[in-house]
Amino acid sequence: AQTKPAQLPAAAAEPLPPPAPGNCTPELRRRIGWGVATAAYQVEGGWDEGGRSPSVWDVFAHKPGTTAGGATGDVACDMYHKYEEDFELMARLGIRHYRLSLSWSRLLPQGGAGTPVSPEGLAFYNRLIDAMLARGIEPYVTLYHWDLPQVLQDAYGGFLDGARFVPDFAYYAAAAFEAFGGRVKNWITFNEPWVVCKLHYGDGTFAPGIPFGLAGQYACGHTLLLAHAAAAALYARQYYKPSQRGRLGVALSMTWHEPGSASEADARAAQNARDSEIGWFADPLFGGDYPESLRRTVGAALPAFSDAERAAFAAHPLDFLGINFYTARYAFSDGTPWGFAPSETDAAGAPIGPRAQSSWLLVVPWAFRRLLLYVSGRYGGPEVFVTENGVSVPGEAGVADPAAAARDAFRTDFYRGYLDSLCTAVAEGANVTRYFAWSFMDNFEWRMGYTERFGIVAVNFTDPARPRTVKDSARYLAQHFFRAGA
Ligand code: NOJ
Repeated sequence: AQTKPAQLPAAAAEPLPPPAPGNCTPELRRRIGWGVATAAYQVEGGWDEGGRSPSVWDVFAHKPGTTAGGATGDVACDMYHKYEEDFELMARLGIRHYRLSLSWSRLLPQGGAGTPVSPEGLAFYNRLIDAMLARGIEPYVTLYHWDLPQVLQDAYGGFLDGARFVPDFAYYAAAAFEAFGGRVKNWITFNEPWVVCKLHYGDGTFAPGIPFGLAGQYACGHTLLLAHAAAAALYARQYYKPSQRGRLGVALSMTWHEPGSASEADARAAQNARDSEIGWFADPLFGGDYPESLRRTVGAALPAFSDAERAAFAAHPLDFLGINFYTARYAFSDGTPWGFAPSETDAAGAPIGPRAQSSWLLVVPWAFRRLLLYVSGRYGGPEVFVTENGVSVPGEAGVADPAAAARDAFRTDFYRGYLDSLCTAVAEGANVTRYFAWSFMDNFEWRMGYTERFGIVAVNFTDPARPRTVKDSARYLAQHFFRAGA
C-alpha cells in the first residue's frame, strides 16, 4: 500500500538537525551543563495576581508610547499559570538546567526591609521550584532581572539612593535564601548591571524612564555593587557555608570589542571599551577598583569605594561569573587616551557580522572565543556560567503561523557557530561549566515588546491560551547539547 500523503507532513516539515559543531566533541559536550533562561517579567504574566504589586516595568509599559505596539508583560507567556506544561516540555527536550528570576514585588509587595513576605507569592514560587525539581530540572535563580518594586522607586529613587537600596535588597535576598535556599543552590544577584544602570538610570530609555545622566548611571552602579556585596556576605555568613551549600554569582553583559586595526591606539581603544562595560563591574568584584579609563572619562561622577567596601568584595569572591554574550563591535581610537569609538564596520567598511532582528545584535561567532579567553586571562580563570546567549531571527515575529516560525534555520546556525567558538575556548582553557540559551521561549523583549523573538520555543501571543511550538533550534540543541550534557 502507498503511504497516504496525510501521514507525511510532520516528518517532511521537520528537517533533520545539522551535525554538532566540529569543535564540540562528545567529551566536551558531556562536561558542560546546558540549559535555558528566562526572566520573571518577560514570561510570567499574572501581573496583578496573588497580591503582586507593580514593578517599574509594569508602570513604564502601561504608559502609552514606551514599548513597541504598546506591549506589556501583563500576560506575557502566562507562565504564571502554565509552568507545569513548560517544565514538561523542558523535560521532553532533555533540559536539566533552568535559569529563571524572581519577581521581587510578587514576594515582597511592599518592597522594603521589614515588610511581610506575601503568602501567595511564596506559595507560587514554592510550587514552581517543586515542579521543576520533580522533573529533574535544576533551578538557577536571579534575584534582580530589572523589575524593581515601583514603591521603592517612588520612595527614594531605587538604585539612586544606596543607603536605602542596599538594606532593602539584602532583606529581599535573605527572604529568598530563607524560603528557597534549601532547594535552590545557584543564585545570581543581578542581571546585567550595565543595562540596569546605563539604560534604566543613565539614558532613561528603560523603566522608570527618567534620564539621570552620568551621575545617575554611576551612582546606580556603585549601589548595585554594594548591594551585591551585602547579599554575598549575608549568604556566606548566615546560609551558605553552614547549611545550604549553594553558590552565588552575578550575570554581566559583555560585548566583545575588537581593535579596529593593528595600531596601538586602536588596541587601547578596545581595552577602554571593555573597561567601560565589563571592567566597570568585574574589576571591583574581582577585588580591584574601577578601571583607570573609567575614572579618567567619568571624573567626579564616579564614586569611590572605601577600604572596607573593597575588602568586602575580596572577602566574598564570586563562586561563578555569569556572562551574557550576544555580540561584538570594532573599537577605534577617538583621539583621546581613555576613550573609544565603537563601530559596526572595520576600517574598510565591512560589517563585523550580519544583523539579527534586534538592531544592536550583530552575529559574530568568533568573538565568543575571544571574549571567553579575555575574561579567563584578566580575572584569573574564574568558573564561568554563560548565563545567556541567543538571537532574534529577522522577520520571525511577523510570521503568523507557528509551524512556519518553528523553521528557524537562522537561529540554529547562530547556535552552531557560537557554540563552536565556545567549545574552542573551553579546549583552550576557559573554565565554562554551564551554558544557558536565551531564551526557552519567545517573550516580552522589553521596549521591543513582542516584535523581537529569542525563543527556541515559539509562543503564539495572539491566542489567549499562549500555545507553545518547539522550533528546529530547540531540537538541534536538545539532540547535541541538552541530552548530551552534564
Ligand atoms: C539580555 C537580558 O538579560 C534579557 O532580558 C533580554 O531579553 C536579552 N538579553 C535579549 O535582549
